[in-house]
Amino acid sequence: MGKIAVIGTGYVGLTTGACFAHLGHDVICADIDERKIAKLNKGEIPIHEPGLDRIVHEGRDTGKLLFVLGAEAAARHCEFVYLCVPTPEGADGSADLSYIEAAARQIGPVLPADAVVINKSTVPVGSTRVVERALGRSDVAVVSNPEFLREGSAVNDFLKPDRVVIGADDQSAAVRVASLYVGVPAPLMVTDPASAETIKYACNAFLATKLSFVNAVAAICEAVGADVKDVILGMGYDRRIGHEFLKPGPGWGGSCFPKDSKALIRIAEDHGYDFHLMRGVVSVNEEQFERTAEKVVQMAGGSVDGVKIGAWGIAFKANTDDVRESPALEILGRLARQGAIVRAYDPAVSSPMDDFEVVTDPYAACEGADVLIVLTEWDEFKWLDMDKVRDLMAEPRVVDARNLLDRSALQRRGFSYVGIGRA
Ligand code: UDX
Repeated sequence: MGKIAVIGTGYVGLTTGACFAHLGHDVICADIDERKIAKLNKGEIPIHEPGLDRIVHEGRDTGKLLFVLGAEAAARHCEFVYLCVPTPEGADGSADLSYIEAAARQIGPVLPADAVVINKSTVPVGSTRVVERALGRSDVAVVSNPEFLREGSAVNDFLKPDRVVIGADDQSAAVRVASLYVGVPAPLMVTDPASAETIKYACNAFLATKLSFVNAVAAICEAVGADVKDVILGMGYDRRIGHEFLKPGPGWGGSCFPKDSKALIRIAEDHGYDFHLMRGVVSVNEEQFERTAEKVVQMAGGSVDGVKIGAWGIAFKANTDDVRESPALEILGRLARQGAIVRAYDPAVSSPMDDFEVVTDPYAACEGADVLIVLTEWDEFKWLDMDKVRDLMAEPRVVDARNLLDRSALQRRGFSYVGIGRA
């Protein structure tokens, strides 16, 4: 089994490292954050990711998974080095490659002969060349192996992916990287680096398009008196469309879609193509934040100035504690700026927020509230005592931005209910 270094222990790096160790490889994970490495060496997992703690502990127990400070220490003895560092949005919308370049510059001098460096971070088309230059090593191949890991199901997505994509000019390097995935039951495709990098962006862009499309269909449903739940059920039976990724909501967010959509628009522009379809997808999403906030304003009687709002959900989606680009922050921020007094609860988020108070109990969020808004689709929200919620609220009014709660049951209990795309 090969020895793999993973640079960056965010949700992609940590999942990649732990899963490769689970598959039987010897893995060394590195990060520049001393506190994170200290935590990991004590067996503490810095992120909320179902199943990750189990395989990290398993890797530590078998000795197949180690954590070290700094990229050089990890890369020095490894045949494969995965780059899993952030590629944040730069000032002009393009992806910022400085972390990738810095990591490549650090490991270049210490890599063993004939090592393979693999880009797993989402990087603009052409980035394998940037890494090659930063490494400064003609004997080291650079390969693209994009991740398709959803937060909240990253371990499962790694071990049972829909496919593995490897982009390499050097076929023997591609075969060596492919060998790391022995035991993973998925089609494996090898292509050139530019195509692999484009596959990643095109997938995220397509999924974001699907979501903006369904949010637009939801707006039409509201206008014509249709029910989007039935509309998407009927659409999903068409095998060319499918049922997945068709749930309307408060808008899409997270650490990938917003950044990658803008980066792809920028990549297209840099190469002379105006990707106006994607610009529309992004602007429909911004409208969706506004439309959702406006539902609360309408339910409150036309203004939220001085109005108490309870919110369930802060994370950008369920089963994660990640609030990056969370629609909940966008929407609650808009309401707070209009004078609303917001108290929010999320099962996985307890850190303080700029625009509103965070409470540690779902009922506390509802105390004295004039409107309750559901922003993240946590399963536990479905099972709360809605009689208690009604009695705690000043007015029993719910805006359900995930169509999560049982509308008829709430209406029977005396709630006013507004969902997304439901007349
Ligand atoms: C995404 C991609 O799915 C993954 O392949 C990629 O590697 C990283 O980016 P992630 O950001 O974890 O994963 O979230 P995802 O589950 O894709 O959801 C993105 C956003 O869309 C969330 O805000 C989510 O709430 C929203 N969403 C998703 C919907 O509103 N409706 C749906 O039906 C699905």
